[in-house]
Amino acid sequence: MELEYTSTSIEENRKTDWLGRNIVFFDETTSTQTIAHELATKGAVNGTIIIADSQTNGKGRFGRSWVSEKGKGIWFSIILRPSFNYDQASAITLFTSLVLVESLKQLYGISAKIKWPNDIYVNDKKCAGILTDVRGTHDKIDYMVIGIGMNTDYIPNKDQQLMDKAIALEEIIGAKPNRNQILTKILELFEQKYQEYNEKGFEYFYCDYNALLMWKGRRVLIKNLSTSYEGFLHEINANGHLLIKKTNGQIDALLSGEVEFLD
Ligand code: BTN
Repeated sequence: MELEYTSTSIEENRKTDWLGRNIVFFDETTSTQTIAHELATKGAVNGTIIIADSQTNGKGRFGRSWVSEKGKGIWFSIILRPSFNYDQASAITLFTSLVLVESLKQLYGISAKIKWPNDIYVNDKKCAGILTDVRGTHDKIDYMVIGIGMNTDYIPNKDQQLMDKAIALEEIIGAKPNRNQILTKILELFEQKYQEYNEKGFEYFYCDYNALLMWKGRRVLIKNLSTSYEGFLHEINANGHLLIKKTNGQIDALLSGEVEFLD
């Protein structure tokens, strides 16, 4: 039976204990990320998820907008209230990208790759992205919001720029993907692996991540808020920092930034 993409049907198909126990579903909203922040400040429980069938103001990294057409993708945010501290928080987004790759592998046999830190690529085009926000005091995290956007359905007549850079699962598997099945698989794997993340930290996952990392050994352009420079992409370390060999031989460990492939 075809699983519907509704709150009730997702609830029925959910295999998790705490993650997604509380579901807030919108046919249309501004951004699940914004709603998640509103709900978290009002005390929403750990594991609450906010799903939208379409977003009118979807948010991407670096203040970009995220195209979220009705019925064309999975757009949702997870509220987490972790017991770990800021040190362990930054790699949660890398951890989440591993969960997305594994979900696609288990459901469709797709071998996706990761563009550091958290873009999911198939056939050199992006099919999913992650946006993580953290709120708290100087020494303690109050909550985190992990926003996941995955392009599932093919969008006809999309503009050339998007066509060159983005891909939908439908184009990869040659059939309509089931969004309920994918979302509940992501929740299942996230909950399973999150326990290990809490107990063992990102160190437990970083070799798996390196095996999926794109552009290893290639010449890349690193863009930060303030600078941009060239180097060779090496791998990530156990903290999730990206190691870049600069042209002067020096190794930089990047905590954040954007990588562009040069040749
Ligand atoms: C990126 O690659 O730039 C991150 C994209 C994150 C998009 C998701 S869709 C669900 C959640 N709500 C938003 O407004 N953004 C995230």
